Amino acid sequence: MTTIQSEQTRPALPSHDLTGKRVVVVGGKTGIGLGIAQAAHAAGASVTVASRRSASVADHPELAPFEQISLDIDDEEAVRAAFDAMGALDHLVVAAGSTDGSWGAFMDDDMRGVRSYTTNKYLGSWACARYAGPRLPPHGSITLLTGGIAARPKLGMTSVTSAFAAVEALGRSLALELGPIRVNTIRPGFIDTDFWTFLSEADAAAVREKVRAKFPARRLGQAADVGHAAVFLMTNPYVTGTVLDVTGGEQLVDWAF
Ligand SMILES: NC(=O)c1ccc[n+]([C@@H]2O[C@H](COP(=O)([O-])OP(=O)(O)OC[C@H]3O[C@@H](n4cnc5c(N)ncnc54)[C@H](OP(=O)(O)O)[C@@H]3O)[C@@H](O)[C@H]2O)c1
Repeated sequence: MTTIQSEQTRPALPSHDLTGKRVVVVGGKTGIGLGIAQAAHAAGASVTVASRRSASVADHPELAPFEQISLDIDDEEAVRAAFDAMGALDHLVVAAGSTDGSWGAFMDDDMRGVRSYTTNKYLGSWACARYAGPRLPPHGSITLLTGGIAARPKLGMTSVTSAFAAVEALGRSLALELGPIRVNTIRPGFIDTDFWTFLSEADAAAVREKVRAKFPARRLGQAADVGHAAVFLMTNPYVTGTVLDVTGGEQLVDWAF
């Protein structure tokens, strides 16, 4: 007896096509968020990018394919108003993240840093999910973004580890609470974006060299790699409540920047 299904009976594979869908990427004007916006657009979606800056298309032609919205996710009322004004969407991605309050030895800190970082990363993700949630259809999805430090802390980065872990827990909890809307988190490793401009050029070059030498994928992660993963999470109908590593294998090796 053959177990191979004929073309006629073989179930259709989920498609990566987003034609006719609206995708909103918060933090989508630069870096990883921009990579996600570009991947969603390439898959056929109409894409809205939202963040604090208003960037002219003349200066930033990479933003030409997208509708742009100005939004500060630290401000709950602004987030509520933005999603009220935006109307229906199919998929939400929250890729925004600032570095305010992210660094410092725990015993040297007071609560200002962690408050600022948590307000942005955790409460900002919470607010976007809360006010986009009612506008998402049953086939819709929410994708949140953290980083490898969620699972593997680095010295001096307790605020980041804790806020990322809270975002991942939020994702699992919302998958349960908002189902059938699917909710997932992407956990990138090193991705070569302007995020690293806080380092001197020499230090950034040294980090890139370490990544190429040590990470099992032997290359620098690109925003497009995360974009590819995000389109998968938007389109696969059975993936929810998960954290997807897009790390080049970073979690398998010892390294420090
Ligand atoms: N790059 C990496 O290697 C890496 C690795 C792991 C995790 N991550 C995480 O991934 C996220 C994105 O990083 P990235 O590399 O794409 O850096 P990025 O280019 O600096 O992007 C951060 C984006 O967040 C937006 N943003 C910050 N605060 C905001 C606010 N209050 N309201 C709305 N938007 C806000 C910024 O836009 P505006 O300035 O216009 O508001 C910017 O577009 C961060 O959370 C970062 O920690 C990055």
